[in-house]
Amino acid sequence: MTTLAMHDTHAGSPVDTPSIEPQDQPVPGALTQETVISVRHWTDRLFSFRVTRPQSFRFRSGEFVMLGLFNGGKPLLRAYSVASPSWDEELEFFSIKVPDGPLTSRLQHIEPGDKILLGKKPTGTLILDALTPGKTLYMLSTGTGIAPFASLIRDPETYDKFETIVLSHTCREIAELGYGNDLVAAISEDPLIGELVDGRLIHDTAVTREKYGRAGRITSRIESGQFFGDVGQPPFDPARDRVMICGSMAMLKDCAAMCEDFGFREGSNANPGEYVIEKAFAE
Ligand code: A2P
Repeated sequence: MTTLAMHDTHAGSPVDTPSIEPQDQPVPGALTQETVISVRHWTDRLFSFRVTRPQSFRFRSGEFVMLGLFNGGKPLLRAYSVASPSWDEELEFFSIKVPDGPLTSRLQHIEPGDKILLGKKPTGTLILDALTPGKTLYMLSTGTGIAPFASLIRDPETYDKFETIVLSHTCREIAELGYGNDLVAAISEDPLIGELVDGRLIHDTAVTREKYGRAGRITSRIESGQFFGDVGQPPFDPARDRVMICGSMAMLKDCAAMCEDFGFREGSNANPGEYVIEKAFAE
């Protein structure tokens, strides 16, 4: 597994995408305005950024929140999973750049010191409370769907509740694995959770459109059994395993159907189960 070099500048962004209008406008009551602390461009399709966290902002690791910019004098917001853990003093997000996407074509230009809009009420189903107790927790993600899991794998509660955590990330291209690779490398160095994670976090990376060691969609790799061999675990068993899924609509649909075939029941906040799903941000 290689960790790929990032683009430090906006070199990967198309030059003709729309710019950000002045953000010094009255903020509606459901939102706060936060300051961008850092931005990192991973590929010409992906970037991550960190912003200030209001003291009153409480969330459970894995939840999402509305985030955006003033555009045409009005808030333009999309749902974003918080990628940082709930103990972090800052908030981190991982985003796609859609060239003609109303929000991300603009948001990709943010720089430290810029202002963004943040919702006050995080929510979502990719939370530990929506799962019944189990031994092994599988996090299946594609593309930016790794974001809620970036939060959960940095939360000590995940390791209190599960013995083994398998984080699976599938992308089209190798460079898109960079965010997850750096994240997992940083976790093992972290004084707070490095020890907890030791030997209990299995990171599975696969690519579908370039030559790479682990190739193919997560659904195909699970169906063929290849996935279980790669991560050194027995096939899914609803008595022992729990599954969280985050990706595109098509990916969710196929992975959920597969979980149902293995005998897992979908969980929610009100009614915990053996698997939970959430759509990754897309425009
Ligand atoms: P593929 O390259 O075969 O389309 P995207 O950026 O389109 O969301 O894709 C991210 C990753 O998710 C890609 O590797 C893609 O594979 C994979 N993918 C797309 N659709 C599905 C699906 N229905 N089930 C599983 N994986 C999928």
